[in-house]
Parts: sequence; C-alpha cells; structure tokens
Amino acid sequence: MNNNRITGTIQKVSGPLVIATKMSGANIQDVVRVGEQRLIGEIIELHGDTASIQVYEETSGLKPNDPVESTGEPLSLLLGPGMLGAIYDGIQRPLDVIKANSGAFIARGAEAPALAEDKKWDFVPSKKSGDSVSGGDIIGTVQEGALVHHVMIPPAITGTLTSISKGSFTVLDTVAEVKLADGTIYAIRLAQRWPIRTPRPVQHKQVPTIPLVTGQRVIDTFFPIAKGGTSAIPGPFGSGKSVAQQQLAKWSDADVIVYIGCGERGNEMTDVLLEFPELEDPKTGESLMKRTILIANTSNMPVAAREASVYTGITIAEYFRDMGYSVALMADSTSRWAEALREMSGRLEEMPGDEGYPAYLGSRTAQFYERGGIAEVLGSPSRVGSLTAIGAVSPPGGDLSEPVTQNTLSVVKVFWGLEERLAYRRHYPAINWLTSYSLYLDQLAGYFAKEAGADWNELRAEAMGILQQEASLEEIVRLVGLEALSKQEQLLLHIARMIREDYLQQNAYDAVDTYTSLHKQYRMLQLIIGLYRKAGERLKDHDYTMQSFLSLEILPAIARAKSIPEKEVDAQFDALEAMTTSNVESLINQ
Ligand SMILES: Nc1ncnc2c1ncn2[C@@H]1O[C@H](COP(=O)(O)OP(=O)(O)OP(=O)(O)O)[C@@H](O)[C@H]1O
Ligand SMILES: [Mg+2]
Repeated sequence: MNNNRITGTIQKVSGPLVIATKMSGANIQDVVRVGEQRLIGEIIELHGDTASIQVYEETSGLKPNDPVESTGEPLSLLLGPGMLGAIYDGIQRPLDVIKANSGAFIARGAEAPALAEDKKWDFVPSKKSGDSVSGGDIIGTVQEGALVHHVMIPPAITGTLTSISKGSFTVLDTVAEVKLADGTIYAIRLAQRWPIRTPRPVQHKQVPTIPLVTGQRVIDTFFPIAKGGTSAIPGPFGSGKSVAQQQLAKWSDADVIVYIGCGERGNEMTDVLLEFPELEDPKTGESLMKRTILIANTSNMPVAAREASVYTGITIAEYFRDMGYSVALMADSTSRWAEALREMSGRLEEMPGDEGYPAYLGSRTAQFYERGGIAEVLGSPSRVGSLTAIGAVSPPGGDLSEPVTQNTLSVVKVFWGLEERLAYRRHYPAINWLTSYSLYLDQLAGYFAKEAGADWNELRAEAMGILQQEASLEEIVRLVGLEALSKQEQLLLHIARMIREDYLQQNAYDAVDTYTSLHKQYRMLQLIIGLYRKAGERLKDHDYTMQSFLSLEILPAIARAKSIPEKEVDAQFDALEAMTTSNVESLINQ
C-alpha cells in the first residue's frame, strides 16, 4: 500500500457516481474508499483536484462532505491457489451464500479476502537459491484439486533467488525471496496481485490452430472456435444464449473455465450455481466446479461492479493462461456490461455516441477481446497458454445493427447468431447456419483432418453446401411447388432436413445428446452424407420414387443416432453404415 494517502470530500452523489474534491495527488484508476462506510470505488476521471468516482456498492446514505480516501493503488485482484470453485462478485469478493433475487450479499464496505487466508498449501519448489529468475518463471507448484497450480514470478520481477522453501504455506506466506538489481529483496508468496485493467503480458501471441472442442455439433462441425479464439453469441430474448454459454462452460475441453454472469437475472445465475457442482468433468471425473470460477454480478447488484466484472474475469483467466493452461471465458451478457458503461458515461455527462453509448464503446470492446489469444507466455519453462473469450450479446428486439452487436462483431472471429424463428420452432441450439460464421475454419482444417477424420473437411463442406442449396430451392418450392424439382433436388431437400433435425438440433437436457465427441460427430456426418451420396448415385440408374426413399428403415435409425452412447459409437455406426448400403440397394424402379 502507498503511504501518502489522499483524503478528499464528497461534493455530489449521482447513483453509482460520486464526485469528490480536494483529491489532488490521486491518480486515475486509483481505488478509493468512500464515506464513513468506506465503500469501494475507483477514480475514473480527474479534473484538477476533482475526481469522478465509480462506486462498486450501493451509494445510498452517502452525503456531501463525507470523506473519500484514495488507496493509491489500482483495482487489483489477489491471484493464487484457492480460486477454483470460487464464486465472486464483480470485484473478487467471495459470495458464499447466493440466494436468487436477494439483495447485496456482502455488507457494504466489507473487505472480504479473495482467497482463504488460513488455508495451507503444500508448496514444492522447482528452483533453488542462487537461481536467476524473471517474470513468469515457474518456481514451484501446489496441487489444487486436479490442477497443478504453478507458482510464478510476477511479470515485472527479475533478480536472483536468495531463498526458497518447501513446506506448507498460506497464500500470504513468503515462500521465496528475490534480490532485485537494486539490491532490494522482493518476497514471493503463493498469491500475487494484479490490476484488472492491465492485460498480463505474454512473450508473443501465436496463430490459433487447435479447436476448443465443445461437444456442440453445430459449433464444432460448422462454426468451430479455436483455443485462444474469440466469439459472440448474439440472440434475442429467450433464444438460448445462456443455455449455449452454460453448455460451453460444461463441455469445452479447457483446463479452466471462467464464467461471468454479468447483469443477468439472478435466477439464471442460480441455475449455474446449483447445477455446476452436481456435474462431473468428463476428463477428471471430479465436480465441474473444481475447474470453474464463477463471477456473479446479477441485475440486482450495483451497476458499476458489472462494468468491473468482465475485467476481473479476464484477469483471472490470464493468470491461468500464464501457467500454460487453456482457459475459456464466457460472459453473459456483454450487453449488460455495455449498459453499465452507458449509464456511467451518461452520469459523467459525456458526449453520447450511437444510442447513448459512449464513443469509446468500440475501443473498450476491442480491448476486452484482445486479451484473448493463444500465446507463448512469459518465463521458463517455455509453454503455451490460451484464453478463449466468448461473449453473449443481447440486442434489444434481436436487432443486430445496434451498437453493442456491431462493435462486438467487428472484433470477434466467430459469430453464432441465435434466431427467434428457430427457437420458436424448438430448433435448439437456435444458431442460424446460413448467417453464422467462423473465421478459424482454414486454420483448424488441419487439426480436424488429423484428429477427427481425413475427410472431415470435405464432409463438412458438403453438408454446408446442402443446407445452402436447400435455402435457394425453398424459394422455388414456394413459388412453383415441389413437383418442379428434379428427383436429385428432392433428395437433397430430404437430406437437408436430416442434417437440420438429426444433426444440428441438440438437446442440452438429454444425458447423451448434451455432448457429442468429435469422433461421434464425424460418424454421424459420414452416415448422413454417405446416405446422400449413395442414394444420389443409385438415382442415376434406378429412377426410384421419393416415397420409397422415405420408407427406408435407415431414416428413423439415423434420427435416433444422436442418442447412441459414446461407448457404443463404433459398433452401432458400423451397423448403420451396413444398413445404409443394403437399404440403398433395395431402391429400385417401381
Ligand atoms: N440446446 C438447447 N436444448 C434444449 N433447450 C434449449 C436449448 N437452448 C435453449 N433451450 C430452451 O430455450 C430456453 C431459453 O434459453 P436461454 O435462457 O438460454 O435464453 P436466453 O437467450 O439466455 O434468454 P434471455 O434473453 O432471457 O437471457 C431454455 O430455458 C430452454 O428451454
Ligand atoms: Mg440469458
């Protein structure tokens, strides 16, 4: 802590915004304690000795002339063992008891330690006294559940280790000491602090080439996201944004998940809170909560903390990335974050931009997503970590031309567009396959060909082509009727329906269907496209009726294929392939 604390007084209170005077000497971004209750706030603007402060707690009861004290430090997190499984508010205070729709959960001004300060961790050093160290170097580990928690030298520190001890330590105990170039001694603890608004540095970013496998067929097959990629899920009210984000949080093959519930209704967050501890991680067999950190900032909690919550989340995610892990972050919803920005900007009487959002909405959005990526991280041993950032967007009325969606789409590389029309027909996930896109397709093609199937990319392209042709044929059918189409085109329409219903539709609430491995996706795709190819070939010499095609027993069998358990995939799909061949051979001129 800084010794020369600045103390000023409140001039004016406007919701979460407090104007304080006599603040000269304070800095922008300093954390301040406001009023007798010492509410936590942050200086967001300084003019002369007048500071504009955004307060992260309810400001009722504050009045002019109350004291404001600057701590001289930016808003920072305590990063160390004990975060996995935690539930935090927007400024990393642990929320032990969550009750849907209840008020603030923590007494105002409370200093709740972010990490249990009495818990002991067994630290095993991997460096010794005398070793030179620099930022990012791993000096030892503690075991945190299934995850090896690497203890790292903080980014800006370089020097020589003068001591390092094996043993049982709390997060605040000194485990090692570093002599810096100027001779001073810097204490290394299991936990380190980092300001939320400053990206943690990396050596260099890499081109993402590995998919984050999500087990969601429409995503992995058609619109995959890379480890270290960025994506947005815009969708109107009730179209499935939260279910999609939760599915990604549950099933993505990331080492660590950070889930930010940002300004959404409390009951949506409660779903996550109640359900996650019950779920098992398919990789470790442990509770999914043990790899998950939740940041809950529901609509009934103070608006300014919502603004901070996305930075808190992404800073925690970067910390685990720095250890060399793959981290996936979900923010539901970034529109609520943008609305918090808008509210503060309005109170600051800034010049409003589009729809009242501040002019810097675009740059803030870009800065947030730019913290995603796959990178060779700082320090030794050399290692690669990734941070995948996925944001839900809630455009009012589903209108994608509104500023938050537009600014988001200009920075993210994957767009999963949810559509009311599909949700209404109960086609879930309601991702529109014609308008959605992934700009990672080319970069990931090599991985899919190697890991999922040599012809994965061809199958994917053919399936997408069928859906696109369906869309253009539908227009003709509407105008002149089905009879106007050739048999080959009619066959295509049947196959397109199968792709939509038997492949793309995926029930999040079905024990088997909720997750599909890449291998099963490949076999399903191969089966449907295989039927299309074979039936099309057959049509050339045997002019069978569409009626006889529709009565093949393989059709209902393919419709049921999504519920084949992962363990039985190969045996059952081999049988289905055989059935396809014999069924198609039975198609004859009648
Ligand atoms: N993959 C899915 N499988 C089954 N049902 C789904 C799926 N996706 C969405 N749903 C259904 O849609 C409903 C609404 O989804 P969800 O709450 O995720 O929408 P939302 O877009 O987050 O809504 P809001 O705008 O209110 O935040 C769910 O309660 C569920 O019934
Ligand atoms: Mg929602």
